[in-house]
Amino acid sequence: MIRVNENYLKLKASYLFVDIAKRVAAFTAAHPEKKVIRMGIGDVTRPLPPVCIKALHEAADEMAAEATFKGYGPEAGYEFLREAIAENDYRARGCQIGADEIFVSDGAKCDTANIQELFAGDIKIAVPDPVYPVYVDTNVMAGRTGENVGGRYQGFIYLNSTAENNFIPELPKEKVDLIYLCFPNNPTGAAITKAELKKWVDYAKENKSLILYDAAYEAFIRDESLPRSIYEIDGADEVAIEFRSFSKTAGFTGTRCAFTVVPKKVKAYTSSGEAVALNPLWNRRQSTKFNGVSYPIQKAAAAVYTAEGKAQVKALIDFYLENAKIIREKMTSLGFACTGGENSPYIWVRTGCESWSFFDKLLNEAAVVTTPGSGFGSCGEGFIRISAFNSRENVIEAMNRISSVLGN
Ligand code: MLT
Repeated sequence: MIRVNENYLKLKASYLFVDIAKRVAAFTAAHPEKKVIRMGIGDVTRPLPPVCIKALHEAADEMAAEATFKGYGPEAGYEFLREAIAENDYRARGCQIGADEIFVSDGAKCDTANIQELFAGDIKIAVPDPVYPVYVDTNVMAGRTGENVGGRYQGFIYLNSTAENNFIPELPKEKVDLIYLCFPNNPTGAAITKAELKKWVDYAKENKSLILYDAAYEAFIRDESLPRSIYEIDGADEVAIEFRSFSKTAGFTGTRCAFTVVPKKVKAYTSSGEAVALNPLWNRRQSTKFNGVSYPIQKAAAAVYTAEGKAQVKALIDFYLENAKIIREKMTSLGFACTGGENSPYIWVRTGCESWSFFDKLLNEAAVVTTPGSGFGSCGEGFIRISAFNSRENVIEAMNRISSVLGN
């Protein structure tokens, strides 16, 4: 008899964004005449930067000629891209990260999900609340939690991110082995300072814990005093793995390219306390289960690091940040407390009522899709997240519609 992985049965029936898509589909079916504006899932709307398109075309031409055709590429990524990442994203900011510590992949979502294969089944895990649901659900799937009781899985240590702590959680009171952090944060949009991040690095060093640092939104940081990488903190290369993505930086959500940094110094321990380097283990995992990102896509990603590419990416992010400013200002003027939207594409809005009812009100009365905060965890109840990834025209129209529905 084939038996099922019963851990899957502990999960909520569907993934948050699937739930939202169902409600939106029902609304659209009932009101085909209404133009729905989607500010829910953080999916980019602007085309790829021209340098990336040019690189894609050139790489496609290379695939058309026998002399330049490429078959399987290196599983961890082509050297030209790994080196460009190490140089521009890290060494240029004073972080001593080498190309052989970069693993190119098809998404930060998959990497944050897959990395937990490297850890024992009975480790203690701390996750922020609210949180990107992938960190939680994938550990549930792997059997690292108990049942969901009152919206929280037993076995996790939840780190509350609330208005009282400016959405930067406090250190756990007990010892934990694995810590998920994401800054600028999805969903709250909060950014962390170097001093606050240092406390986490110090905690991890003291407790032999590991931090999984999701920096998918670092390109939105405009405040130069804020860290863009955890490796800007001394000693973090001993206790942190960092995830990055070209999705939100350069519009690659549909194109797929990301990377994970596993420094050679980062270790996990056997039950007898022997240190094991994680870089070779991740390399082993990727080379066994992953065949790399396609050559044309890696060429397109590498183009982001040319002088032209940097300017085009900055313009792209500036555009979304201006959207974020418009949203934040409008929601604030309507009397809603907001966080994020400054070094982040997400605006976290306190609704003053239950998240899903506020979501439904905006969908039904304004035809605007947001994300209910409670979908990210129980501390998200009473909030919605608005994404700034949209056209200027749609953002302005959505804000006008919301003003007419919610304005006095
Ligand atoms: C989000 O809306 O939270 C993101 O689009 C999710 C993702 O990047 O997978």
